[in-house]
Amino acid sequence: MKQQFLDRNETLQGPSPKALRVLRVFKKNHASTYIPGYYSSLLISALSKKFHIPEDRIILSYGIEDFLSLMFEKVSERKGSILTSEYCYSYYRIHAKFKGVRLLTFRMPEVGDSFTFDIKDCIRKYRAYKPEIVLLASPASPTGNVLSVGELETILKNVRKDCPVLLDQAYRGFEKKYDEKSFLRLLEKYPNLVLLRTFSKYYALAGMRIGFGLCGKNVKKILNYENRFLGLSRVLEETAIAAFNSERYYRRVADEVKRDREYLVSKLRAKGLKVFSSNANFILLKPSPRTVSKMKKIVGKQEMVLVKFFDDGTVRISIGLRKYIDALLKDLKSL
Ligand SMILES: Cc1ncc(COP(=O)(O)O)c(C=O)c1O
Repeated sequence: MKQQFLDRNETLQGPSPKALRVLRVFKKNHASTYIPGYYSSLLISALSKKFHIPEDRIILSYGIEDFLSLMFEKVSERKGSILTSEYCYSYYRIHAKFKGVRLLTFRMPEVGDSFTFDIKDCIRKYRAYKPEIVLLASPASPTGNVLSVGELETILKNVRKDCPVLLDQAYRGFEKKYDEKSFLRLLEKYPNLVLLRTFSKYYALAGMRIGFGLCGKNVKKILNYENRFLGLSRVLEETAIAAFNSERYYRRVADEVKRDREYLVSKLRAKGLKVFSSNANFILLKPSPRTVSKMKKIVGKQEMVLVKFFDDGTVRISIGLRKYIDALLKDLKSL
């Protein structure tokens, strides 16, 4: 049996019909010519209208990964460090190691059924080590907790205005509660803030690799950043714009994902497992070591794999589709 790994928090309902149509009928001359002009982008105009941010404060990238890679590169050149949270997206650690960047971390204690960010520890570490960049994620991966607007603002107030504060919002759209206006307002107040977003998760376009950053007033200057001379891939730009124009479709899918997430949480809690509350399209569990080994055996025999085992003994499950969740729950019955 060949296993299919669906454990990277993709949205398996797929992109909207409008987005798929762009791919199906993509024009020959759009493939063979550059986007008209230099440093130009169709997507930046669309993003600017959607978020009411001037075009020159938007950065496009091939996924958030592309942008982060550039940031790590810059920090590496300066032999500096990056401050992030204790539990973080695995790429931060992997890439920091690869680039020889020192990754500093602040604490994330468990409170009840959720992880929390220790803001005081974050500020303490910032003052003690003076990192080049502060990198936060909300909803956080793999823990699924969120950073409030107030917490972000406390951090911003304590960070120098020439130190970029990046908020990775890859899982934007799956939160239980979210106040977009207040986050966008911080961009006007703090010139060093970047809200990093992607089309990979909520918009179900992970394979297309489209990301963007909404920036505070000084970010491009601090980073010495310029848009691409010949533009980004046009097929990506057109697909992303079509996805933006399919909000009703994506809201329905996100509602389905959130429903399936809470269903899975309640079923696993009913088995007595420690499951953290999640604001993303995955959940995190902390089973006993014995349960983890039993789970590994069960998951090892599955065809569709939603489950990822981490070295610290925690286990993440991508929500995927209800049919895969039900198959997983059936297989876990003996736990
Ligand atoms: C927190 C976080 N940031 C960024 C990414 C990658 O985003 P992109 O697909 O836009 O590179 C992921 C992917 O899993 C993620 O979990």
